[in-house]
Amino acid sequence: MKTTTREFEHLPFNAFWEKGYKDGNVSTMGGPNHDIVELAAALPPGTRVLDLGCGEGRNAFFLAGRGCQVTAVDRSAAGIEKLSALAKRTGVPLRAVVADIAELELRDTWDVIMAHGVIDYLDNRTWRSLLARLKAHTAPGGYNAYTCMLFTDEYPAGPEFLAAGFKHSLAQGELAAFYGDWEQVRHDRYVKWDQHPGIPLHCHPVDKLVARKPGGGGPAPRREPVPVGEVDLPRALFDSVAMGTPAEEVLARCGEPAVVDTFTMEGVQLGVGPTDSLTVDGYRLSLWYYGRAVLYVINGRVWGRALHDSLPVRMTFG
Ligand SMILES: C[S@@+](CC[C@H](N)C(=O)[O-])C[C@H]1O[C@@H](n2cnc3c(N)ncnc32)[C@H](O)[C@@H]1O
Repeated sequence: MKTTTREFEHLPFNAFWEKGYKDGNVSTMGGPNHDIVELAAALPPGTRVLDLGCGEGRNAFFLAGRGCQVTAVDRSAAGIEKLSALAKRTGVPLRAVVADIAELELRDTWDVIMAHGVIDYLDNRTWRSLLARLKAHTAPGGYNAYTCMLFTDEYPAGPEFLAAGFKHSLAQGELAAFYGDWEQVRHDRYVKWDQHPGIPLHCHPVDKLVARKPGGGGPAPRREPVPVGEVDLPRALFDSVAMGTPAEEVLARCGEPAVVDTFTMEGVQLGVGPTDSLTVDGYRLSLWYYGRAVLYVINGRVWGRALHDSLPVRMTFG
């Protein structure tokens, strides 16, 4: 992979994540995405992973800690410096590079390429050209995983997204159509509320796609609907659950969820929420499903909530 070393001063460094990246004590985006934790079960040590727009590296750090060979790229020097320092301090080997992914020249082949909350900051032509190259540089049987924001009239982009250079460059279904020739391992649509250092609670409609290139070996992905039941948490009650609410208080106010799915990550991890320190020792994420309303309970507190449009699914491999 050839990277560019030019300066990026013209790019929007008033982006809401920069403040957190520059603070070595806070976790800006929380721990790894649960779809990446799920996918990790299918990745043997040595899996070649490229994380584009990695930020401070919650997913890159997690996979590198599990033996993957990770290269993480972001145009934010602050994000890359923070990730490099964390990797060095914890002895987790990974490669972290400052570069503009729009200009990325790919030479190697990768087993997993991911971009979470990133390609929406490229214009339509640029992300299409990049993704065509990513598809070509993915090994047979390899994965591409994306989280994109599809703001709507009902859930418009907040000023922090616009200030960060959000482009509105993806239409509903466009990413899935782009991967029409690959197996769509999972494709989730939901609206998620969360919080970041210095940014109050905000919301984003999410389009999350994990696609697998035809061919190759490795364990086959299996998709299973989560039996979330018919009854959603009443909207006013859902809206009233504040970030940081302890699990016991949620139980007292909302009752038992229909289903709880738990992901446990051992060892040093990026921290859990906006008031949390940079790292935690061990990380436990539970998704509490009240119908299609989901509370993200992390290490005993609510640090996110979502309303699903697509039917929630679980992935297993083997
Ligand atoms: C919302 S943050 C997500 C960070 C990370 N993927 C995560 O999930 O925590 C978006 C990231 O994309 C990076 N980014 C946006 N446009 C980029 C570009 N053209 N080249 C490289 N990085 C970019 C930003 O610097 C920022 O770190």
